[in-house]
Amino acid sequence: MTKLWKAAMDNLGPEELAESARMLREGGVIAFPTETVYGLGADARQTEAVNKIFLAKGRPSDNPLIVHIANRSQMAELAAPPDETVSRLLDLFWPGPLTVILPIKPDVLSPLVTAGLSTVGLRMPDHPVALQLLKAAGCPVAAPSANSSGRPSPTTAAHVYDDLAGRIDGIVDGGATGVGLESTVVEYTAPNGEVGGVLHILRPGGVSAEQLIAALPGIEVREASILQDSSSAPRAPGMKYAHYAPRGAMTLVQGSAPEQVLARLQRELDQARARGERTGVLTYREHADALRADTVVACGSLGDLETVAHGLYAALRQFDEAGADFIVAEACPEAGIGAAIMNRLRKAAANRIIYV
Ligand code: TXA
Ligand code: MG
Repeated sequence: MTKLWKAAMDNLGPEELAESARMLREGGVIAFPTETVYGLGADARQTEAVNKIFLAKGRPSDNPLIVHIANRSQMAELAAPPDETVSRLLDLFWPGPLTVILPIKPDVLSPLVTAGLSTVGLRMPDHPVALQLLKAAGCPVAAPSANSSGRPSPTTAAHVYDDLAGRIDGIVDGGATGVGLESTVVEYTAPNGEVGGVLHILRPGGVSAEQLIAALPGIEVREASILQDSSSAPRAPGMKYAHYAPRGAMTLVQGSAPEQVLARLQRELDQARARGERTGVLTYREHADALRADTVVACGSLGDLETVAHGLYAALRQFDEAGADFIVAEACPEAGIGAAIMNRLRKAAANRIIYV
C-alpha cells in the first residue's frame, strides 16, 4: 500500500508530517517534492531501507545516491569540512539545486548509498515541504529521482504514482516542482602546487555553468564530456546509463537556422507517418503552429528557457501516453539552463542527433 499525504500551500499538516517522518525513520521509502524533481527517500544510514529504493526503481546498484540534508550541522556529521571554494558555493546556492561531492567520513552512511566510493553527494533542497520532512525525520535522506529507472524524472506526484504506486510506502504531494530538472552535481579539486583548482561539473542542472563561473573568479569550471567512453569508469557513475528515454525512438534536430531545423523536423515526421508510425514532435511555443504530427508538444518558450526546463519531463511523458513510436525534438540554445535541457534531450535521444 502506498500512502498519500497532501501538502496545502507548501505546508504539510502536523499529522501528515509526523506520520511521513516516522515512516522514514522506521526504514520506509517515501517520495517527496523538491525544487528540482520528486525524490524517493530513505534513511541513508539504514542499508535495508536504502536497498528498497534500488528495488522500487529497478536502479543499478553501482549508481550512488544523493544525500539530502536540512542544515549544515548534518553535513559536518557526514563529510570532511569543505574548503573555502566549496563553502562559497554552499553560501551562495544552498538551499538550492546544487549537489557537492565531498570525501565521506567512515561508517556514517550505508555503503549502498555511495556504491563503494569514498565520496558522497550532498544537497540541501530549496523546497519548504522537503525541508519540513528532513527536519522532522532528523536523519540524512538518500534520494534519487522518484521515477522507475529509464523513465523521465517525476515533476508531479501523479508521475510518481504512475511509476511506483504499490512499490513504495508513501508519496508526499507538494504540487508541481519548480526547476523541473535535477540539481547540478559538482566536485572541486583543490590546487596542487603549481596546478590550479578545478570545479568539475559532473551533471549540468538547476545551477548553470555561467552562475558557477561568476561565483568563483580565478577557478576553472570544467564541464564533463557527455559522450563518455563506456569502457572507462565515469566520474558521475549515473552518466553511463541511458536515462529519460521515452518509449518511442527519439531523434534530436539541431542547427543554427530555425527554418532549416523546422523543415527537417517536418520531413522526418512525414517520412515516419508514411511508414505508418505514430509521430510526435517536441517543440516550443514559438514553433508549435508550424509543425504537423499526431502529437505536437509545445514545451515552454524559447524566449524563457526556465519554462522549457520546468515542462520538459512532463512533455516527454506525454509521448508515452500518446503511444508515439517516432519522436523528433527541436534543440534549444545551450546558454544558462539550456545546457542542462540539451543534456537531458541528448540522453532521451540516446545521442541520435541530426545537424542541419
Ligand atoms: O535534483 C536532484 O539532484 C534529485 C532530487 C531528488 O534531489 N536527485 C537526483 O538523484 O537526481 P539521482 O540519484 O537521480 O542522481 C544522482 C547523480 C547521479 O548521476 C550519480 O551518479 C551522481 O549524482 N552521484 C551521486 N553520488 C556521487 C559521488 N559520490 N560521486 C560522483 N557522482 C555521484
Ligand atoms: Mg534520476
